[in-house]
Amino acid sequence: MLEVELAGLKLANPTMLASGILGTSGAALKRVAVSGGAGAIVTKSIGATPREGHPNPTVVEIDGGLISAIGLANPGYEEFREEIAVAKEGGVPVVGSVYGFNFQEYAMVAEAMQGYGVDAIELNISYPNVGKAGAFFGYREELAHEVVSEVRKRVSIPLFAKLTANAGDVVAVAKACEDAGADAITATGALRAMAIDVTTAKPVLGNRVGGLSGACLKPVALRCVYEIAEEVSIPVIGCGGITTGRDAVEFFLAGARAVQIGTAVLYRGITVFRKVSREIAEYLEEQGYGHVSEIVGLAQR
Ligand SMILES: Cc1cc2nc3c(=O)[nH]c(=O)nc-3n(C[C@H](O)[C@H](O)[C@H](O)COP(=O)(O)O)c2cc1C
Repeated sequence: MLEVELAGLKLANPTMLASGILGTSGAALKRVAVSGGAGAIVTKSIGATPREGHPNPTVVEIDGGLISAIGLANPGYEEFREEIAVAKEGGVPVVGSVYGFNFQEYAMVAEAMQGYGVDAIELNISYPNVGKAGAFFGYREELAHEVVSEVRKRVSIPLFAKLTANAGDVVAVAKACEDAGADAITATGALRAMAIDVTTAKPVLGNRVGGLSGACLKPVALRCVYEIAEEVSIPVIGCGGITTGRDAVEFFLAGARAVQIGTAVLYRGITVFRKVSREIAEYLEEQGYGHVSEIVGLAQR
């Protein structure tokens, strides 16, 4: 009922761990697969060189979600081979998330991750809090096209492009990625946001601005999925504020073929993937559907 095929990958259920949550170590990724029940796992975004990330505080909880600015803290790709080997022991597809400050870095790191044995690459052109990396390449279709093209030349495994709702025209960016050879679109990453401490009269986060995630992001992400799925023929993966099976169902109805879950891991624990899968199955049974694919895009009619 829940098994899906996504750009050639077989997932036992359509829930995936979103990048950046529990994804820095192979052991944590494996645990999300084995104990958590995720259908696939995405690593923390990995770059060409190690990064310490932004100063504390890096996360603030607000009504309906989080604002975070971790700053792409990661050990660099050369240190990540062993983590992938451990993550793969989880027995589900492992997606390597890659970011860069230029096209060459994206291509080099993606190729290395392919060599480490990941099952797919997700290009992070969505992360909004580090100057000319991540979302810098996702704001406009020309840059997005070039990133995907350069990586496509070096990588033969499935390639996902993760987009940002901060883009001027997210549908145009999605179409550019499809045209450049992406096999799926992930929509979306966190949205630029901030919080101010009224006692100190200063921004709360060390980086001043951060990325909005969690329930309050859901309506924006859902709108992006709906608009993108109408215009591209490659699969769309929904991401943004998915906490319950009902949330996931909304994304399927909008046209998503799978969903990624990040912030909700904090609220429902590591088994959120198992819980959301069960809730999706309950919805399908209640409504008389035999398989999750039957509801994909129904809201498009
Ligand atoms: C603490 C934290 C770290 C994140 N790090 C990354 C990252 O390294 N790469 C990336 O593509 N997205 C990153 N994200 C964005 C998530 O993958 C996801 O797109 C976003 O949080 C929306 O989904 P959610 O509402 O389910 O969390 C991060 C999000 C959070 C909350």
